[in-house]
Amino acid sequence: MSTAHHITFTDWLHDSQRAHGTLPANLIQTLMVTAEACRRIGAAIGQGALAGVLGAAGSENVQGEDQKKLDVIANDILLQLHSDGSHLAGMASEEMDDPFPVPHPGSSDAYLLLFDPLDGSSNIDINAPVGTIFSVLPAPAGCDARDASVFLQPGSAQVAAGYAIYGPSTQLIITLGHGVHAFTLDRYSGELILTQEHLALPAQTQEFAINMSNQRFWEAPVQTYVTDLLAGKTGPRAKDFNMRWVAAMVADVHRLLSRGGVFLYPLDSKMASKGGKLRLMYEANPMAWLVEQAGGQASTGHQRILDIMPTGLHQRVPVMLGARDEITELTRLHSA
Ligand code: F6P
Repeated sequence: MSTAHHITFTDWLHDSQRAHGTLPANLIQTLMVTAEACRRIGAAIGQGALAGVLGAAGSENVQGEDQKKLDVIANDILLQLHSDGSHLAGMASEEMDDPFPVPHPGSSDAYLLLFDPLDGSSNIDINAPVGTIFSVLPAPAGCDARDASVFLQPGSAQVAAGYAIYGPSTQLIITLGHGVHAFTLDRYSGELILTQEHLALPAQTQEFAINMSNQRFWEAPVQTYVTDLLAGKTGPRAKDFNMRWVAAMVADVHRLLSRGGVFLYPLDSKMASKGGKLRLMYEANPMAWLVEQAGGQASTGHQRILDIMPTGLHQRVPVMLGARDEITELTRLHSA
């Protein structure tokens, strides 16, 4: 789509409200503030070494992972901007043990915001793409969002999900349940401009994304699946496959939504006790909904990701998402 009409993110939210009649003011505010936070995070990342924001923060997050300075900066920007309003009942972040109590908790139609403030943070110091992933859930009426259990809703309950990708350009990709739409930051005006509507993920693909160095730790169905892909034209799949791995979920999923493909972070024996590598609430659920909204599928191999009833805020799950025919094949192998 041409950018000639310059539909800004704010215009688009109001147009969506008119078109679907189901976009409460607090949800619009949640999304506008999230977009502004992403713009500021992108600006900090863009300054890089000039602003002294690269490198380790010298702390660990709830997952026991070393935090980068930008993990902390991005988390603080989101918390700070959202704390000023009453559109949220609470926030939860991949970087924090417990939910964040919003100083002026919202009214009955407030929302819960969950985020991975800086996804793919090992890419920061090599100037490769990183992102912010977010998920919005309804807040149960009268809830106390300091209680983590109010966040434990399945991905199918999301009312908005998306990510910002900080790459050669900064883009915001979002779904409100009516397709997936892409906005690109105009660095001169500071506005996010609608650049693509209704992103579509083809049912078939010849490209897959997986960290191949974990091959020896995978379970049998994934071993079989990848062996078949690698066998190419003369193997059971009768076509050659290409492989890509950016090591930032945002960038790998963005490639799927841009030109198709399949992404896997399966369970492996190194992390079996944790349940997987990727986090259900901050990564798997928002990405699964985006992929489904673009015509793809998202599964653990055994179950649709959006149907999982969460048991913990920081729960991890195996993730397989993308082209419909590939996820169908993966679930067939897992049930064989
Ligand atoms: O959040 C975890 C994450 O950084 C994802 O963005 C990415 O897909 C994955 O880890 C990369 O994992 P690995 O380090 O195994 O390549």
